[in-house]
Amino acid sequence: MLKGLSGKSIVVTGAGGEIGAATCRRLSAEGARVVAADIDISRAEATVAQLQGDAVALVADVSTQQGAAACVAAAVDAFGRLDAFHVNAGVEGRSHLVADFDVAVYEQVFAVNVRGSFLCASAALRQLLAQGDGGSVLFTSSLASLMGSPANAVYVASKHAVHGLARSLAREVPVGIRINALAPGPVDTRMMRSLERSMGSLDGSGEAARRATLEAAIPLKRYASADEVAATAAWILSDEVPYVHGETITLGGGRTP
Ligand SMILES: NC(=O)c1ccc[n+]([C@@H]2O[C@H](COP(=O)([O-])OP(=O)(O)OC[C@H]3O[C@@H](n4cnc5c(N)ncnc54)[C@H](O)[C@@H]3O)[C@@H](O)[C@H]2O)c1
Repeated sequence: MLKGLSGKSIVVTGAGGEIGAATCRRLSAEGARVVAADIDISRAEATVAQLQGDAVALVADVSTQQGAAACVAAAVDAFGRLDAFHVNAGVEGRSHLVADFDVAVYEQVFAVNVRGSFLCASAALRQLLAQGDGGSVLFTSSLASLMGSPANAVYVASKHAVHGLARSLAREVPVGIRINALAPGPVDTRMMRSLERSMGSLDGSGEAARRATLEAAIPLKRYASADEVAATAAWILSDEVPYVHGETITLGGGRTP
């Protein structure tokens, strides 16, 4: 068991997605009490149905102030307090060249990945500061927060913004509140399958060839699993690593920016 997770009240956004669901399962197995928040309530409920301990499903659109505030309120209502907030909800948009700019993709990706991260962090920190006894905010950023990628400039730029937000908050919060980012490379989830499709159709290579190219560029020659990301998230949120603060932990299977 990881130290310090038992009984903790933790919000996970994007909890209906594969990384979010895996993180809820892992945190719950470690004894944490979980608010599983997603814009799609049926997916959040499906995640909660997999958990043994205290957990609530919440419908919340993190790109709105009300949605972010509802995540914190749900933790306080259900469990009396907030100990940690995993800012995980994200969208990939669609691969396209900047020259063929699609403002609708930009607006959607920035609304969820950047405004959503900002609003959730802000709501979480208001609660943690009011409680006055520490806590943790963890962002799921991406290796894309640290490097460029052709045909995915909008997603990449949004994750660079998350990186900047996390780094700045780490220097802004009082001692006791830990801020970190987890930056996976490709993870075997719906999001990568969507990106393989859109990248594969953009350059005509097809999705299977795109995946093969992406995997070949990873020293471990495979994507991460959602469970591997979840295990790393739980470790960062636990008391095993109190000195991990202001860090971006990459999880690239040997691929470095
Ligand atoms: N899959 C990868 O390869 C990969 C790699 C690095 C980082 N990430 C990041 O990990 C996070 C989770 O991705 P995933 O692979 O599990 O994707 P996913 O698509 O499986 O899950 C994302 C979840 O977020 C939810 N969501 C979308 N918009 C929302 C909103 N406005 N409010 C609340 N919930 C919303 C979706 O309903 C979905 O359940 C994202 O931030 C993503 O950018 C993913």
